[in-house]
Amino acid sequence: MAANTGTGVEKSAVLKLFPTYVWVTQFEASVFGPVNARIRQCLAEIESGNPKLAASGQWQSDQRLHKKPELAGLVGLVRQVAASIFESLTLVHDGFQVTGCWANVSNPGYPHRPHAHPNNYLSGVWYVQTAPGADSISFFDPRPQASMMAPPARRRDIATQDTVSLDVAEGMLVMFPSWLLHAVDVNQSNARRISIAFNIMFPSFGTVMARPTWQADTPSG
Ligand SMILES: [Fe+2]
Repeated sequence: MAANTGTGVEKSAVLKLFPTYVWVTQFEASVFGPVNARIRQCLAEIESGNPKLAASGQWQSDQRLHKKPELAGLVGLVRQVAASIFESLTLVHDGFQVTGCWANVSNPGYPHRPHAHPNNYLSGVWYVQTAPGADSISFFDPRPQASMMAPPARRRDIATQDTVSLDVAEGMLVMFPSWLLHAVDVNQSNARRISIAFNIMFPSFGTVMARPTWQADTPSG
């Protein structure tokens, strides 16, 4: 609340209601180095078993990479950050699990079209290999009608942008609500972009967490 001296306004405020959170965690090289080494090893083995992949411009792996021992280090980091996020949101839950985890490998010239990750609560991306020109992810305003009126603004600001591009780097973990539409620009580098995507959900969502939050006026029978 700020007082506007001389305007007759006693106090005013701008309320940022219903914010969309994107959690960004950059790990130290001593942490992400070994994690990414194991991931590269895993992906190399997948490619050696399927030469078509290495020859293709872009490929995605099986969605159960989190079951592989080579990914245990990354899963540990993901669980650590996810637990911290849920705690910061004070969510009441009976635990969470990684429901899917896969690699995205893109050669120069390849983008990743806009998409969301249905049927999960939290999603994210971990960066194994980035390069200048292949080091960003874009998020789109979840209010599609908000861009119906887009008058020019003198500076870029989240209040007037319908797309936000985030710079990413190796060893960075970016987490966001699974419903948030996102995309990756064309790889404009000379190197491959390698990332690991994942989804997180509450196993007890259907059995416990989805129950009505209000109390009945009659006793349950
Ligand atoms: Fe995604």
